[in-house]
Amino acid sequence: MVAPLKVGIAGLGTVGAEVVRLIENESRALSARCGRGVRVVAVTARSRAKKRGVDLRGLEWAKNPLTLAEDPNIDCFVELMGGAGDPAFSAIEAALKSGKSVVTANKALIARHGVRLAKAAEKHGGALNYEAAVAGGIPIIKTLREGLAGTGINRVYGILNGTCNYILSRMEQEGLTFDECLKDAQRLGYAEANPSFDVDGHDTAQKLAILASLAFGTRVAQSAVYVEGISSIKPEDLRAAEELGYRVKLLGVAVRTAKGIEQRVHPTMVPKTSSIAQVMGVTNAVTIDGEGVPPITLVGPGAGGAATAASVLADIADVARGIRATPFGRPIERLKTTSKAPMERHEGGYYIRLMARDLAGTAATIATRLAEQKISIESIVQRHPNGANAAENATRVPVILITYATHEDAVYRALEAVQRDKVISGRPQVIRIEKN
Ligand SMILES: NC(=O)c1ccc[n+]([C@@H]2O[C@H](COP(=O)([O-])OP(=O)(O)OC[C@H]3O[C@@H](n4cnc5c(N)ncnc54)[C@H](OP(=O)(O)O)[C@@H]3O)[C@@H](O)[C@H]2O)c1
Repeated sequence: MVAPLKVGIAGLGTVGAEVVRLIENESRALSARCGRGVRVVAVTARSRAKKRGVDLRGLEWAKNPLTLAEDPNIDCFVELMGGAGDPAFSAIEAALKSGKSVVTANKALIARHGVRLAKAAEKHGGALNYEAAVAGGIPIIKTLREGLAGTGINRVYGILNGTCNYILSRMEQEGLTFDECLKDAQRLGYAEANPSFDVDGHDTAQKLAILASLAFGTRVAQSAVYVEGISSIKPEDLRAAEELGYRVKLLGVAVRTAKGIEQRVHPTMVPKTSSIAQVMGVTNAVTIDGEGVPPITLVGPGAGGAATAASVLADIADVARGIRATPFGRPIERLKTTSKAPMERHEGGYYIRLMARDLAGTAATIATRLAEQKISIESIVQRHPNGANAAENATRVPVILITYATHEDAVYRALEAVQRDKVISGRPQVIRIEKN
């Protein structure tokens, strides 16, 4: 009879408390699946007095996360505190250095210190599992690391932030502004009081850096990700996208190009017929384009105590079974360094919305400036002002263009020329298109 796996958990918040509950509730099923029991023996958090809705009687309360990580009575240290620095970092490193396995849901930490921690895991023989760190309840880490170990990957992209997808979905469905939807998201608990980490794309960037490492064998580096958020998106962009057969999503995209691995986060037009376009609300999704296989899309909950705890538990089950996957799918010395993609060389289609002056020759001027940069237009829509502001806007006409694939610097050179020609007012809106 193999001895049960003894687990220590640091962090008893939304995810940690749920993991304690799940291990208790699923104990029979877990031991049947793993061939041995899994027992939480010690825990810690900031406040010992706080009520957490789970039974902690009989569990040792460690003085602090580091003490728990070094406790010789545990086999597996589970870090569910969050934060890219201490105490999470030192505690995880200490646990790995003492030969323990570690499970964490901490994307910020893996994005910043993943390589260093993976080195410690490799050297001392423990596992470093972090399934819940990206797209909470979707088993995307295992899919890339193990399930697709035999498949060359060309592109991985996804909706990795539920808050942004919720905001964009409501803006599209109800014609509301970004600010109105953000307020609602905050009221419903989908967005933080300070939403910038989510809506400016940084949360997605951390997750994308991890996925890119697994997909392309690069050293995980958030600094290699180009980032743009969703606050500039207007209801009229979503209306135009709908009419032209697209939806706007905040995507994280990592793609193999002739010039290296491009990692970018930005609002993106995706064809309405694509799998990723169907994903609405707080749901997450990841699509993988592999060599010689049709795209694979995984859709599911990106957050929430229960879904995230289920991923944490799957990682703990792997430790109990003795499975030790290399954290990034290959030995650390095989990981390649990567640098930030120069977006001016990005190649793709573009959506451009301009407020053109309603003067003779305006359309011809815009078309000439685009042609000078060898940009071909797939479609062009010119609207006529209507509604309450029709009279006021009578001299400004929205013009919406979709281009065929071109380089980003060509688009901006053409738009600068159009601005110099004084045939438009205000800043043009530019959204990149991702084809499936
Ligand atoms: N929530 C989700 O849906 C979700 C989804 C995917 C990934 N994650 C990741 O899971 C991790 C945990 O998230 P969460 O939502 O569960 O966070 P949370 O509800 O804020 O809980 C954090 C827990 O860590 C404890 N803690 C914080 N600092 C500590 C310290 N210095 N020493 C000891 N304990 C400390 C807190 O103690 P007190 O309770 O005493 O304050 C709390 O129990 C994060 O890395 C997060 O990114 C969360």
